Amino acid sequence: MSTDAIVLLKKDHQEIRKVFTAFEKTGDKAYVEKGKLVDRMIELLTVHTYLENEVMYPRVRELLPELEDDVLESYEEHHVADLLVMELVGMKPEHERFAPKTTVLIENVRHHMEEEEQEWFPQVREGLGRKALQEIGAAMEEARKKAPRKPSQPGALKKTIDAVLA
Ligand SMILES: [Fe+2]
Ligand SMILES: [Fe+2]
Repeated sequence: MSTDAIVLLKKDHQEIRKVFTAFEKTGDKAYVEKGKLVDRMIELLTVHTYLENEVMYPRVRELLPELEDDVLESYEEHHVADLLVMELVGMKPEHERFAPKTTVLIENVRHHMEEEEQEWFPQVREGLGRKALQEIGAAMEEARKKAPRKPSQPGALKKTIDAVLA
């Protein structure tokens, strides 16, 4: 099995996109289904964000300093998504703001994933090469085992709070 970091991250993106599309197909009053799909997207996003924040971004920042600005922008895009996620966690699917908030989350994350795939990943692949990407991917798969799955778990929540207060 390939552990190429970009292949693995794209696989995550595809899984996230599937849940986004499923959410968009739900009926207006399908609150139970909407709630479940949002729980699922939050889980996928929490794990994926953790892997990028903790492994991929720091490694790229270190190895390819010329891509640092992109990394810093990505941290901010993750942060905006984290804030929306934190709000959704405490909200009932029946609330009038639940579906629109989810839609904004989806729009933001889609835009971010597009940028990663279209602009950033090709530059990273070019700059790092196959071997480094395999190593980073292996480190990500290791980190996946202990990744938080819910934003309320200590690591993820603390990061959000630190980012707000810093
Ligand atoms: Fe990202
Ligand atoms: Fe990503």
